Amino acid sequence: MSEQAFLKLPQRVYLGEGLLDNLGAFLKTRKNANVLLFTDKGLQKAGLVQPLENYFKENEVQYQIEAEIKPEPSYIEIDELFQKVSKFNFDTIVAIGGGSVMDAAKLISLLLHTNLSVKDLIDDPTKAQKHCATVFIPTTAGTGSEATINAIVGIPEKQVKSGIVSDAMLPDLVLLDVDNVKNLPKAILASSAIDALSHCVECFTAKNATVMSDGVALLGAKLIFKNIVKAYQDPSDIKAREALQLGAFYGGVAITASGTNIVHALSYPLGGKFHIAHGVSNAILFKAGMEANKPAIKDRLAILYDNIWPQAGRKSTEEKADFVIDKIAEVVKETEIPTDLKKFGVKASDLDFLVDSALEQKRLLSHNMKKLSRKDIEMVYKSVM
Ligand SMILES: NC(=O)c1ccc[n+]([C@@H]2O[C@H](COP(=O)([O-])OP(=O)(O)OC[C@H]3O[C@@H](n4cnc5c(N)ncnc54)[C@H](O)[C@@H]3O)[C@@H](O)[C@H]2O)c1
Ligand SMILES: [Zn+2]
Repeated sequence: MSEQAFLKLPQRVYLGEGLLDNLGAFLKTRKNANVLLFTDKGLQKAGLVQPLENYFKENEVQYQIEAEIKPEPSYIEIDELFQKVSKFNFDTIVAIGGGSVMDAAKLISLLLHTNLSVKDLIDDPTKAQKHCATVFIPTTAGTGSEATINAIVGIPEKQVKSGIVSDAMLPDLVLLDVDNVKNLPKAILASSAIDALSHCVECFTAKNATVMSDGVALLGAKLIFKNIVKAYQDPSDIKAREALQLGAFYGGVAITASGTNIVHALSYPLGGKFHIAHGVSNAILFKAGMEANKPAIKDRLAILYDNIWPQAGRKSTEEKADFVIDKIAEVVKETEIPTDLKKFGVKASDLDFLVDSALEQKRLLSHNMKKLSRKDIEMVYKSVM
């Protein structure tokens, strides 16, 4: 464990129902705020954007809407979108959506009033400075992007995804409104909640975990382990959905202080080349990644066991670690996430590409408790192919 500990946090976070007045109060402090309402077509279709538009109209907030962002965008797509929205005259971004919407909004807030492109920030994230206020309203449960200092983009020429990291991405306001996940389709709920669970478990078992990241990672892991299957199986269980939303937020906070590692590092080539949704590729690799790491992280997995399943009886450290890994496999199975890589077009001949590409994820691999060799990474991919 590191000697120093820190958490990086959004300025204000509200959890509950009917939170738009909190947004109104924030916008009032900005005096004549001019809003870019940033979202995607799926959110518009789900009816989650209209209440915001109604609120802006009723309260005479000036706004323009942009909803062209595609799921899991490349840096080129975000640059193109920025060229369009930079013509609007806005000083505040209100982003409502999943990780794709929030990550793109973060980057737009850094590009505004500069000559920079997203590529410039990939090459040198220290150039990032925030040039407008940001409000994030997550609608998946979820990436935790509302709390992280990362934006993830596709890099098509390398067929991979990669993160840009800067403290300037922390938002001014976060609204965790359960209304936004009440009708989240089951498949998206499942994959995004597994993503959130992997954030918590990877951060808890990371080399750079601290006493502060442990606190939030543990809270998040407990909320998600206890509620993911309930929320998946019973869409009317709103309490379970709310728990996932909060757990996902804690996972995001944990990332700011610790870091994801084996699962995410091996997941990005699957997303970049085969366009497998982020939560799905994490689900595919989650159990195998934990098994590969087990010799180095079994003590940490045992602490998760002690805190989350204290009633499950006394066991050895080895047995506790296996119990947690089995639980991971169980939640992936019970939430019916598609895990057959062949169905996504991945072939045995792709192995070298996957391994080479995962080895390039040096930032994430540096967080991994166990130093991973080429052979270790190869074994993980082989075990899920
Ligand atoms: N910045 C970070 O820290 C971080 C962390 C993890 C993942 N990510 C990135 O986030 C992206 C994935 O985000 P995601 O999993 O939230 O999904 P997403 O934002 O890509 O959304 C997936 C689909 O779900 C739809 N959707 C979202 N909420 C909905 C709702 N409530 N009702 C109906 N439809 C809804 C969207 O319209 C979209 O079509 C990936 O690019 C991933 O790499 C970022
Ligand atoms: Zn993730």
